[in-house]
Amino acid sequence: MPFWRSKDEKKAEKTHECKDCKHDCDNCKKAAEEHDHHHHHHHGHVPGKEGSVMPSHMANHLLHPGRRFLEPPRQFMKYIPKNNGVVLEIGPAQGFFTQYFARKASRYIAVDIQPEMIKGLEARMKEKKLTVETRVCTATSLGVEDLEGIVDFIPVFLMFHEVPAAEKQHFADQLISCLKPKGTLVLTEPQHHVDAVRFAEEVAVFEKSGLKLVKKGMSGRLNQKRFMAEFTRD
Ligand SMILES: C[S@@+](CC[C@H](N)C(=O)[O-])C[C@H]1O[C@@H](n2cnc3c(N)ncnc32)[C@H](O)[C@@H]1O
Repeated sequence: MPFWRSKDEKKAEKTHECKDCKHDCDNCKKAAEEHDHHHHHHHGHVPGKEGSVMPSHMANHLLHPGRRFLEPPRQFMKYIPKNNGVVLEIGPAQGFFTQYFARKASRYIAVDIQPEMIKGLEARMKEKKLTVETRVCTATSLGVEDLEGIVDFIPVFLMFHEVPAAEKQHFADQLISCLKPKGTLVLTEPQHHVDAVRFAEEVAVFEKSGLKLVKKGMSGRLNQKRFMAEFTRD
């Protein structure tokens, strides 16, 4: 169960009403009984399954201000140099971290595979008067060839488990070439989707693509504890 839900979501949970079709739904009911907090089997989103993206109508969970205390964005600010910092964020959804990081960067590129996420991100950033370049990528190409060797910080937060197993290595390889020497890539994963063994496998993918592991540990607090790995490029 996520730590925060909107009124509508609480109501939907009680009635097993599907947020998309607004009907009382057997799949939602079954999922609720199995304590599956996403209750979205019929949308094809199987929580934690590789290659299964979080549906965009779930993205509001990620925007809850309480995340500021449970997963302080401040801890990552040191990776963005004061002048001319370039950030490439992969899988921003609607920009929980983006809204903090973009204030410090002189160039910010946000890449997501879901156009609806990017639309939501653009609207939110405009509201906050933040300048963010957005790109919609495909499953096989991040479309970041033009960023070779210029990026200081690459956050890959809570999304690598959504990349299909067969695409993981290629995905990492594309990111490595964007990183500046001494730049930083940080990978975080939620404990409820990824266990320690799988996280170690994910870390190995980035090492195989040529990154050096600086630190492996945990970030976040309480029910938002994350696996975290920090990498750099020589
Ligand atoms: C659970 S959300 C995490 C959002 C954000 N990073 C955060 O921590 O709040 C995962 C995001 O990754 C995106 N995503 C999934 N697979 C992707 C891929 N192959 N390339 C780019 N983005 C992807 C999804 O569309 C979604 O917006």
